[in-house]
Amino acid sequence: MGLLKQLEETAQFVESKFGSRAAKVGIVLGSGLGNLTEEIVIEQAIPYADIPHFPVSTVKGHGGKLILGTLNGVKAIVMSGRFHFYEGYSAQQVVFPVRLMKWLGVETLLLSNAAGSVHPDYKVGDLMIINDHISFFTENPLIGKNEETIGTRFPDMTEPYSKAIIEKALTIARDNNIDIHQGVYVAVTGPTFETKAEYRLIKAVGGHVVGMSTVQETIAAVHCGLKVFAISVVTDIGIREDENVITHEEVLQAAKEAEPKLTLIFKELVQQL
Ligand code: HPA
Repeated sequence: MGLLKQLEETAQFVESKFGSRAAKVGIVLGSGLGNLTEEIVIEQAIPYADIPHFPVSTVKGHGGKLILGTLNGVKAIVMSGRFHFYEGYSAQQVVFPVRLMKWLGVETLLLSNAAGSVHPDYKVGDLMIINDHISFFTENPLIGKNEETIGTRFPDMTEPYSKAIIEKALTIARDNNIDIHQGVYVAVTGPTFETKAEYRLIKAVGGHVVGMSTVQETIAAVHCGLKVFAISVVTDIGIREDENVITHEEVLQAAKEAEPKLTLIFKELVQQL
């Protein structure tokens, strides 16, 4: 079945539960960052497994529900748990929910993720607003036949992350005494964390953090005309002199500890979109 038909079927199903044009804001929560859903007054939640054409997430720490609710009084469609390329889904499957959000009337997409830092000044638990990315180490989700009704064949990528929204987030962070960085996210496929040489490479090519998500979603979002804002929580430091073993548990724990700062920013931000 073609992509447009799939989107139409899935949108019809979701709209039968959520109503049509239910929310203008879409939110995707990253590894260990699912607690934001506790701040959401949930109206409807649909397990991914029940949604036609949706893949099912397999990773610990991912909730696996599409939620309609209000965050700080603002209606939002929230993905609690996302799909990763390393789970074995195609890049097109990974971005299907992003395209669905556009289909459902979403205008702005807020993304979060856990990431490893290669910046000498970043510490575990820090937040970094993504102001640019490098996608060369993972697969571009737009490879293949282009659907012109979704977006253009060769999308411009000079400002994938909305500068206007970044400014708003910076003001919110400042007003709440949250230290926040801005920088470049390098996308890799995972599921291995990087070798020492790979972390050095990521730093050398101009990256500040590295992670296994977000960029394919951003590319698909820009392609279909969504505004994007994305934030990384630094969960580990890639470049260290000492022995530096990184575990998924450590990543989840660090994400959990930093989460209240991220939640505050998202809560304030949705009111200003
Ligand atoms: N590398 C890649 N992905 C990650 C990391 C990392 O160090 N930390 C959290 N996600």
